[in-house]
Amino acid sequence: MSVNMAVDLGGIAMRNPVNTASGTFGNGVQFEGFYDVGATLGAITCKGVAAQPWDGNPAPRLAELPSAIMNSVGLQNPGVAGFVERYGAYLQGLRERGCAVICQIAGHSLEEYARATELFEELAPWASGFEVNISCPNIAAGGAAMGATPAAAAEVMRTVRPLTSRPVLVKMAPHDVAEIGRALQAEGADALSLINTIPAMALDVRTRRSRLARPTAGLSGPAIHAIAVRMVWECAQAVDLPLCGIGGIASWEDAAEMILAGATAVSVGTANLTDPLAAAHVAEGLERWAAEQGVDSITELVGAAEL
Ligand SMILES: Cc1cc2nc3c(=O)[nH]c(=O)nc-3n(C[C@H](O)[C@H](O)[C@H](O)COP(=O)(O)O)c2cc1C
Repeated sequence: MSVNMAVDLGGIAMRNPVNTASGTFGNGVQFEGFYDVGATLGAITCKGVAAQPWDGNPAPRLAELPSAIMNSVGLQNPGVAGFVERYGAYLQGLRERGCAVICQIAGHSLEEYARATELFEELAPWASGFEVNISCPNIAAGGAAMGATPAAAAEVMRTVRPLTSRPVLVKMAPHDVAEIGRALQAEGADALSLINTIPAMALDVRTRRSRLARPTAGLSGPAIHAIAVRMVWECAQAVDLPLCGIGGIASWEDAAEMILAGATAVSVGTANLTDPLAAAHVAEGLERWAAEQGVDSITELVGAAEL
């Protein structure tokens, strides 16, 4: 008997638990030459987009490390109107093909989050829901992340929540996930996605300079997986919300581990860059695993780790 792979990520209906991590999968269309994205994935999460275009950081913005990469892309994006103009028709079609489309909202201030949400509401009726990236730098606070503390994260959620009736997920930074998760739940978040990249540093010892144009950047890839699994598990103990587990998922086993730790869905990130078929392989492998585990529905395995 086949296993029911469908999951509900805070009101976002997914045919299977496999999503893609913001910024690592283009906006889906770039991967259509490798496989049928619309027929294969449960959802995609688009690159973070702000009300107005952002330039991003200077190059070099990527460095390769053993089992990881570092990036300081800095949320380069064309603004909501430019994003919808370029990708709207494709994303609407993707939704019609049965793959949920999650649009990511970025902002440097509460006003910018509000404006981006309003623009998405107006211009993207096809979006299944939104993910608010609370790791964006707060210009007024000298660049600290907008959602760095439970109070600040709650404020972002309080700003966005009344502006849409569609599901709102929050993309969490890799710290204080229990406390910040509770604060976000109290403000009406529908689901939480974790983790974002881990702040890190890599130096070129000959030039004595950073290997990227900025002194620090975000670490992602297999090296962060075990940290991410621990944080998903901690967050799952603290909140009563569905979680999307993100961090170093490169195989179905990595994804299965996230599900056992408490994730309802999983996002494949950096692995898309090294193997464009990674997310498709994760979806196939998870279905085989669920069948081997003898369950009727993949949801029976969420948080099923025996500790
Ligand atoms: C090149 C690149 C761009 C990213 N852009 C975003 C972004 O726009 N918004 C966001 O929330 N996370 C962004 N991320 C973080 C990923 O979505 C993900 O949280 C992180 O990479 C951890 O997962 P992974 O180890 O599977 O890559 C980016 C990561 C990379 C490598």
